[in-house]
Amino acid sequence: MEKGGPLLKVEHLTKLFPVKKTRFFEEQRHVHAVEDVSFELYEGETLGIVGESGSGKSTLARAILALTKVTSGTVIYRGEDITDFRVPPAKRKLLHSELQMIFQDPYASLNPKIKIGEAICEPMLANGQARNHDEAVKKTRHLLEIVGLRAECFDRFPHEFSGGQRQRIGIVRALAVNPRVLFCDESVSALDVSVQAQVLNLFNALKKEFNLTYVFIGHDLAVIRYISDRILVMYLGKVMEIARYDQLFSDRAHPYTKALVSAIPEPSTAARKERIILEGDIPSAVNPPEGCRFCQRCFMARPECFEVEPDFYEVEPGHFVRCPYMKGGE
Ligand SMILES: Nc1ncnc2c1ncn2[C@@H]1O[C@H](COP(=O)(O)OP(=O)(O)OP(=O)(O)O)[C@@H](O)[C@H]1O
Ligand SMILES: [Mg+2]
Repeated sequence: MEKGGPLLKVEHLTKLFPVKKTRFFEEQRHVHAVEDVSFELYEGETLGIVGESGSGKSTLARAILALTKVTSGTVIYRGEDITDFRVPPAKRKLLHSELQMIFQDPYASLNPKIKIGEAICEPMLANGQARNHDEAVKKTRHLLEIVGLRAECFDRFPHEFSGGQRQRIGIVRALAVNPRVLFCDESVSALDVSVQAQVLNLFNALKKEFNLTYVFIGHDLAVIRYISDRILVMYLGKVMEIARYDQLFSDRAHPYTKALVSAIPEPSTAARKERIILEGDIPSAVNPPEGCRFCQRCFMARPECFEVEPDFYEVEPGHFVRCPYMKGGE
Protein backbone atom coordinates (compact mmCIF):
# COMPACT_ATOMS: atom_id res chain seq x y z
CA MET A 1 0.00 0.00 0.00
CA GLU A 2 1.42 3.42 -0.91
CA LYS A 3 1.87 5.67 2.13
CA GLY A 4 -1.18 7.82 2.80
CA GLY A 5 -3.26 5.80 0.32
CA PRO A 6 -6.61 4.35 1.28
CA LEU A 7 -6.71 1.23 3.43
CA LEU A 8 -9.76 -0.01 1.56
CA LYS A 9 -10.93 1.00 -1.89
CA VAL A 10 -14.27 -0.11 -3.25
CA GLU A 11 -14.72 0.37 -6.99
CA HIS A 12 -18.03 0.15 -8.86
CA LEU A 13 -19.34 -2.54 -6.55
CA THR A 14 -22.66 -4.04 -7.66
CA LYS A 15 -24.73 -6.76 -6.06
CA LEU A 16 -27.92 -7.94 -7.75
CA PHE A 17 -30.06 -10.72 -6.27
CA PRO A 18 -32.08 -12.73 -8.83
CA VAL A 19 -35.83 -12.67 -8.16
CA LYS A 20 -37.46 -16.10 -8.18
CA LYS A 21 -39.46 -16.55 -11.39
CA THR A 22 -43.14 -17.41 -11.08
CA ARG A 23 -43.52 -18.42 -14.75
CA PHE A 24 -41.04 -20.30 -16.93
CA PHE A 25 -40.82 -17.76 -19.77
CA GLU A 26 -40.71 -14.80 -17.48
CA GLU A 27 -37.75 -12.49 -17.91
CA GLN A 28 -35.20 -12.80 -15.11
CA ARG A 29 -35.51 -9.79 -12.80
CA HIS A 30 -33.12 -8.68 -10.07
CA VAL A 31 -33.14 -6.85 -6.77
CA HIS A 32 -30.70 -3.97 -7.31
CA ALA A 33 -29.41 -4.11 -3.74
CA VAL A 34 -26.10 -2.30 -4.36
CA GLU A 35 -25.22 -0.63 -7.63
CA ASP A 36 -21.99 0.95 -8.79
CA VAL A 37 -20.78 1.93 -5.32
CA SER A 38 -17.29 3.42 -5.05
CA PHE A 39 -15.59 4.89 -1.99
CA GLU A 40 -12.30 4.93 -0.12
CA LEU A 41 -11.64 4.24 3.53
CA TYR A 42 -8.55 5.68 5.21
CA GLU A 43 -6.63 4.19 8.10
CA GLY A 44 -7.91 5.39 11.49
CA GLU A 45 -11.09 7.05 10.24
CA THR A 46 -14.72 6.22 10.93
CA LEU A 47 -16.91 6.19 7.86
CA GLY A 48 -20.61 6.28 8.63
CA ILE A 49 -23.05 4.73 6.16
CA VAL A 50 -26.65 5.95 6.44
CA GLY A 51 -29.80 5.31 4.48
CA GLU A 52 -33.35 4.10 4.96
CA SER A 53 -34.16 0.46 5.50
CA GLY A 54 -33.58 -1.47 2.26
CA SER A 55 -31.07 1.00 0.82
CA GLY A 56 -28.38 -1.70 0.62
CA LYS A 57 -26.14 -0.87 3.58
CA SER A 58 -25.82 -4.41 4.97
CA THR A 59 -25.47 -5.91 1.50
CA LEU A 60 -22.64 -3.50 0.73
CA ALA A 61 -20.77 -4.53 3.90
CA ARG A 62 -21.42 -8.21 3.24
CA ALA A 63 -20.18 -7.92 -0.35
CA ILE A 64 -16.97 -6.18 0.76
CA LEU A 65 -16.34 -8.91 3.34
CA ALA A 66 -17.08 -11.69 0.84
CA LEU A 67 -20.08 -12.88 2.85
CA THR A 68 -22.06 -12.62 -0.38
CA LYS A 69 -20.58 -12.94 -3.88
CA VAL A 70 -20.32 -9.66 -5.74
CA THR A 71 -22.00 -9.29 -9.15
CA SER A 72 -19.31 -6.91 -10.41
CA GLY A 73 -16.76 -4.41 -9.16
CA THR A 74 -13.63 -4.71 -7.07
CA VAL A 75 -12.54 -4.44 -3.46
CA ILE A 76 -8.92 -3.39 -2.90
CA TYR A 77 -7.49 -3.80 0.60
CA ARG A 78 -3.98 -2.52 1.33
CA GLY A 79 -3.34 -2.29 -2.41
CA GLU A 80 -4.43 -5.85 -3.15
CA ASP A 81 -7.53 -7.06 -5.00
CA ILE A 82 -9.49 -9.07 -2.42
CA THR A 83 -12.85 -9.18 -4.24
CA ASP A 84 -14.74 -12.26 -2.99
CA PHE A 85 -11.54 -13.02 -0.99
CA ARG A 86 -10.08 -14.64 -4.13
CA VAL A 87 -6.65 -14.92 -2.52
CA PRO A 88 -4.53 -17.92 -1.47
CA PRO A 89 -6.09 -19.76 1.53
CA ALA A 90 -3.35 -18.70 3.95
CA LYS A 91 -4.01 -15.04 3.18
CA ARG A 92 -7.77 -15.53 3.40
CA LYS A 93 -7.39 -16.42 7.07
CA LEU A 94 -5.53 -13.18 7.68
CA LEU A 95 -8.17 -11.16 5.81
CA HIS A 96 -10.92 -12.81 7.82
CA SER A 97 -9.30 -11.64 11.02
CA GLU A 98 -8.25 -8.18 9.82
CA LEU A 99 -11.69 -7.31 8.40
CA GLN A 100 -14.37 -8.08 10.97
CA MET A 101 -18.08 -7.43 11.07
CA ILE A 102 -20.33 -6.92 14.06
CA PHE A 103 -23.70 -8.11 12.86
CA GLN A 104 -27.01 -6.29 12.84
CA ASP A 105 -28.58 -8.91 15.11
CA PRO A 106 -26.00 -10.05 17.69
CA TYR A 107 -28.34 -12.67 19.17
CA ALA A 108 -28.83 -14.42 15.83
CA SER A 109 -25.07 -14.68 15.35
CA LEU A 110 -24.55 -16.42 18.73
CA ASN A 111 -25.16 -20.13 19.21
CA PRO A 112 -27.62 -20.35 22.17
CA LYS A 113 -26.06 -23.62 23.38
CA ILE A 114 -22.49 -22.40 23.56
CA LYS A 115 -21.19 -20.44 26.53
CA ILE A 116 -20.17 -16.91 25.61
CA GLY A 117 -16.56 -17.42 26.64
CA GLU A 118 -16.14 -20.48 24.47
CA ALA A 119 -17.82 -18.70 21.52
CA ILE A 120 -15.13 -16.04 21.78
CA CYS A 121 -12.20 -18.45 22.34
CA GLU A 122 -13.05 -20.56 19.32
CA PRO A 123 -12.23 -18.04 16.52
CA MET A 124 -9.22 -16.88 18.53
CA LEU A 125 -7.77 -20.41 18.45
CA ALA A 126 -8.82 -21.03 14.83
CA ASN A 127 -7.08 -17.84 13.67
CA GLY A 128 -3.94 -18.44 15.73
CA GLN A 129 -4.45 -15.41 18.00
CA ALA A 130 -3.98 -17.70 21.01
CA ARG A 131 -1.54 -20.61 21.21
CA ASN A 132 -3.70 -22.75 23.46
CA HIS A 133 -7.05 -22.82 25.23
CA ASP A 134 -5.70 -21.38 28.49
CA GLU A 135 -4.26 -18.38 26.69
CA ALA A 136 -7.54 -17.88 24.78
CA VAL A 137 -9.51 -17.96 28.06
CA LYS A 138 -7.18 -15.39 29.62
CA LYS A 139 -7.45 -13.05 26.61
CA THR A 140 -11.23 -13.44 26.48
CA ARG A 141 -11.67 -12.59 30.18
CA HIS A 142 -9.47 -9.54 29.67
CA LEU A 143 -11.50 -8.36 26.64
CA LEU A 144 -14.79 -8.91 28.50
CA GLU A 145 -13.53 -6.59 31.21
CA ILE A 146 -12.38 -3.97 28.67
CA VAL A 147 -15.91 -3.70 27.24
CA GLY A 148 -17.41 -3.42 30.72
CA LEU A 149 -18.61 -7.00 31.22
CA ARG A 150 -17.46 -8.90 34.28
CA ALA A 151 -15.10 -11.83 33.65
CA GLU A 152 -17.72 -14.18 35.20
CA CYS A 153 -19.80 -13.63 32.05
CA PHE A 154 -17.46 -16.15 30.43
CA ASP A 155 -19.57 -19.08 31.64
CA ARG A 156 -22.98 -17.68 30.77
CA PHE A 157 -25.20 -18.44 27.77
CA PRO A 158 -26.40 -15.81 25.22
CA HIS A 159 -29.99 -15.71 26.54
CA GLU A 160 -28.70 -14.62 29.95
CA PHE A 161 -27.66 -11.20 28.64
CA SER A 162 -29.49 -7.96 27.88
CA GLY A 163 -29.45 -6.37 24.40
CA GLY A 164 -26.72 -3.92 25.37
CA GLN A 165 -24.60 -6.69 26.88
CA ARG A 166 -25.00 -8.84 23.76
CA GLN A 167 -23.80 -5.96 21.64
CA ARG A 168 -20.71 -5.76 23.85
CA ILE A 169 -20.21 -9.50 23.38
CA GLY A 170 -20.40 -8.98 19.59
CA ILE A 171 -17.67 -6.36 19.98
CA VAL A 172 -15.47 -8.73 22.02
CA ARG A 173 -15.92 -11.49 19.44
CA ALA A 174 -14.74 -9.14 16.69
CA LEU A 175 -11.84 -7.78 18.77
CA ALA A 176 -10.67 -11.27 19.72
CA VAL A 177 -8.99 -11.80 16.36
CA ASN A 178 -7.03 -8.50 16.27
CA PRO A 179 -8.97 -6.75 13.50
CA ARG A 180 -7.83 -3.61 11.68
CA VAL A 181 -11.17 -2.67 10.17
CA LEU A 182 -14.48 -3.18 11.97
CA PHE A 183 -17.78 -3.05 10.10
CA CYS A 184 -20.47 -2.28 12.67
CA ASP A 185 -23.92 -2.95 11.23
CA GLU A 186 -26.65 -1.13 13.18
CA SER A 187 -24.60 -1.84 16.29
CA VAL A 188 -26.51 0.53 18.54
CA SER A 189 -29.89 0.83 16.77
CA ALA A 190 -31.68 -1.72 18.93
CA LEU A 191 -30.51 -0.17 22.20
CA ASP A 192 -32.24 2.47 24.26
CA VAL A 193 -30.78 5.96 24.16
CA SER A 194 -28.68 5.85 27.35
CA VAL A 195 -27.15 2.48 26.46
CA GLN A 196 -26.58 3.71 22.90
CA ALA A 197 -24.44 6.53 24.26
CA GLN A 198 -22.43 4.11 26.43
CA VAL A 199 -21.76 1.74 23.52
CA LEU A 200 -20.82 4.63 21.21
CA ASN A 201 -18.35 5.86 23.82
CA LEU A 202 -16.99 2.34 24.07
CA PHE A 203 -16.49 2.23 20.29
CA ASN A 204 -14.60 5.53 20.45
CA ALA A 205 -12.38 4.31 23.30
CA LEU A 206 -11.64 0.99 21.58
CA LYS A 207 -10.75 2.76 18.35
CA LYS A 208 -7.86 4.52 20.08
CA GLU A 209 -6.77 1.52 22.14
CA PHE A 210 -6.71 -0.98 19.26
CA ASN A 211 -5.90 1.42 16.34
CA LEU A 212 -9.10 0.53 14.55
CA THR A 213 -10.73 1.86 11.42
CA TYR A 214 -14.54 1.74 11.44
CA VAL A 215 -17.32 1.49 8.93
CA PHE A 216 -20.34 2.34 11.04
CA ILE A 217 -23.70 1.49 9.47
CA GLY A 218 -27.03 2.88 10.65
CA HIS A 219 -30.29 4.38 9.54
CA ASP A 220 -30.26 7.24 12.02
CA LEU A 221 -28.06 10.19 11.08
CA ALA A 222 -28.53 11.62 14.58
CA VAL A 223 -26.60 8.62 15.96
CA ILE A 224 -24.11 8.12 13.14
CA ARG A 225 -22.89 11.72 13.36
CA TYR A 226 -21.49 11.19 16.86
CA ILE A 227 -18.96 8.65 15.73
CA SER A 228 -18.22 9.41 12.06
CA ASP A 229 -15.47 11.48 10.46
CA ARG A 230 -17.13 11.18 7.06
CA ILE A 231 -20.59 10.02 6.05
CA LEU A 232 -21.74 8.09 3.00
CA VAL A 233 -25.45 8.44 2.24
CA MET A 234 -27.12 5.57 0.38
CA TYR A 235 -30.49 5.49 -1.32
CA LEU A 236 -31.90 2.48 -3.14
CA GLY A 237 -28.53 0.84 -3.73
CA LYS A 238 -26.68 3.97 -4.88
CA VAL A 239 -24.37 6.41 -3.14
CA MET A 240 -26.04 9.83 -3.08
CA GLU A 241 -23.41 11.71 -1.14
CA ILE A 242 -20.04 11.38 0.62
CA ALA A 243 -19.06 14.23 2.90
CA ARG A 244 -17.79 15.30 6.28
CA TYR A 245 -20.60 15.76 8.76
CA ASP A 246 -20.41 19.58 8.70
CA GLN A 247 -20.66 19.56 4.88
CA LEU A 248 -23.98 17.75 5.12
CA PHE A 249 -25.50 20.98 6.51
CA SER A 250 -24.48 23.08 3.51
CA ASP A 251 -26.84 24.19 0.77
CA ARG A 252 -24.94 21.88 -1.54
CA ALA A 253 -26.03 18.73 0.28
CA HIS A 254 -28.15 16.24 -1.66
CA PRO A 255 -31.93 16.78 -1.26
CA TYR A 256 -32.24 13.34 0.36
CA THR A 257 -29.53 14.23 2.86
CA LYS A 258 -31.26 17.55 3.53
CA ALA A 259 -34.37 15.58 4.49
CA LEU A 260 -32.33 13.30 6.79
CA VAL A 261 -30.59 16.30 8.39
CA SER A 262 -33.91 18.09 8.93
CA ALA A 263 -35.16 15.05 10.85
CA ILE A 264 -32.38 15.29 13.46
CA PRO A 265 -33.92 16.55 16.70
CA GLU A 266 -32.08 19.75 17.67
CA PRO A 267 -32.75 21.07 21.15
CA SER A 268 -31.59 24.62 20.41
CA THR A 269 -34.04 26.83 18.53
CA ALA A 270 -31.21 28.45 16.56
CA ALA A 271 -30.09 25.15 15.06
CA ARG A 272 -33.61 23.88 14.44
CA LYS A 273 -34.42 23.57 10.77
CA GLU A 274 -37.73 23.25 9.01
CA ARG A 275 -38.58 19.58 8.84
CA ILE A 276 -38.64 18.11 5.31
CA ILE A 277 -41.09 15.22 5.25
CA LEU A 278 -40.50 12.80 2.40
CA GLU A 279 -43.64 11.46 0.81
CA GLY A 280 -44.10 7.75 0.17
CA ASP A 281 -41.77 4.85 0.85
CA ILE A 282 -38.48 3.86 -0.70
CA PRO A 283 -39.44 2.35 -4.13
CA SER A 284 -38.92 -1.31 -4.99
CA ALA A 285 -35.30 -2.27 -5.61
CA VAL A 286 -36.53 -4.65 -8.32
CA ASN A 287 -37.73 -1.82 -10.55
CA PRO A 288 -35.67 1.17 -9.49
CA PRO A 289 -36.76 4.45 -11.12
CA GLU A 290 -35.07 5.51 -14.32
CA GLY A 291 -33.07 8.71 -14.05
CA CYS A 292 -32.26 9.68 -10.47
CA ARG A 293 -33.06 6.97 -7.89
CA PHE A 294 -34.55 9.61 -5.60
CA CYS A 295 -36.64 11.46 -8.24
CA GLN A 296 -40.04 10.17 -7.12
CA ARG A 297 -39.68 11.54 -3.60
CA CYS A 298 -37.49 14.57 -4.28
CA PHE A 299 -38.93 17.98 -3.38
CA MET A 300 -36.51 19.59 -5.85
CA ALA A 301 -37.09 17.22 -8.80
CA ARG A 302 -37.23 18.65 -12.32
CA PRO A 303 -38.47 16.79 -15.43
CA GLU A 304 -34.94 15.75 -16.47
CA CYS A 305 -34.40 14.03 -13.09
CA PHE A 306 -36.90 11.37 -14.20
CA GLU A 307 -34.89 10.65 -17.37
CA VAL A 308 -31.18 11.08 -16.77
CA GLU A 309 -29.15 9.39 -14.05
CA PRO A 310 -27.10 12.18 -12.42
CA ASP A 311 -23.30 11.97 -12.17
CA PHE A 312 -21.51 11.78 -8.87
CA TYR A 313 -19.18 14.78 -8.65
CA GLU A 314 -17.15 16.81 -6.18
CA VAL A 315 -18.91 20.07 -5.21
CA GLU A 316 -16.14 21.16 -2.85
CA PRO A 317 -12.98 19.38 -1.67
CA GLY A 318 -13.95 16.01 -0.20
CA HIS A 319 -17.69 16.56 -0.73
CA PHE A 320 -19.31 14.41 -3.44
CA VAL A 321 -22.97 14.65 -4.46
CA ARG A 322 -25.19 12.86 -6.98
CA CYS A 323 -27.42 15.78 -7.92
CA PRO A 324 -26.69 18.09 -10.90
CA TYR A 325 -28.31 21.11 -9.21
CA MET A 326 -25.77 21.41 -6.40
CA LYS A 327 -22.93 22.44 -8.73
CA GLY A 328 -23.40 26.17 -8.32
CA GLY A 329 -24.92 25.84 -4.87
CA GLU A 330 -28.41 26.19 -6.39
N1 LIG B 1 -30.30 -12.57 0.29
C1 LIG B 1 -31.10 -11.71 -0.34
N2 LIG B 1 -31.88 -12.13 -1.37
C2 LIG B 1 -32.67 -11.27 -2.05
N3 LIG B 1 -32.76 -9.94 -1.76
C3 LIG B 1 -32.01 -9.48 -0.74
C4 LIG B 1 -31.15 -10.34 0.02
N4 LIG B 1 -30.54 -9.58 0.97
C5 LIG B 1 -31.00 -8.32 0.81
N5 LIG B 1 -31.89 -8.25 -0.21
C6 LIG B 1 -32.57 -7.05 -0.70
O1 LIG B 1 -31.58 -6.08 -0.99
C7 LIG B 1 -32.03 -4.78 -0.63
C8 LIG B 1 -31.04 -4.16 0.34
O2 LIG B 1 -31.10 -4.87 1.56
P1 LIG B 1 -30.14 -4.58 2.80
O3 LIG B 1 -30.42 -5.58 3.85
O4 LIG B 1 -28.76 -4.47 2.30
O5 LIG B 1 -30.65 -3.12 3.24
P2 LIG B 1 -30.26 -2.29 4.53
O6 LIG B 1 -29.93 -0.91 4.05
O7 LIG B 1 -29.21 -2.99 5.31
O8 LIG B 1 -31.63 -2.24 5.33
P3 LIG B 1 -31.88 -2.23 6.95
O9 LIG B 1 -31.65 -0.79 7.36
O10 LIG B 1 -33.31 -2.62 7.08
O11 LIG B 1 -30.93 -3.18 7.58
C9 LIG B 1 -33.42 -4.94 -0.07
O12 LIG B 1 -34.35 -4.66 -1.09
C10 LIG B 1 -33.48 -6.41 0.34
O13 LIG B 1 -34.79 -6.90 0.24
MG1 LIG C 1 -29.12 -3.77 7.24
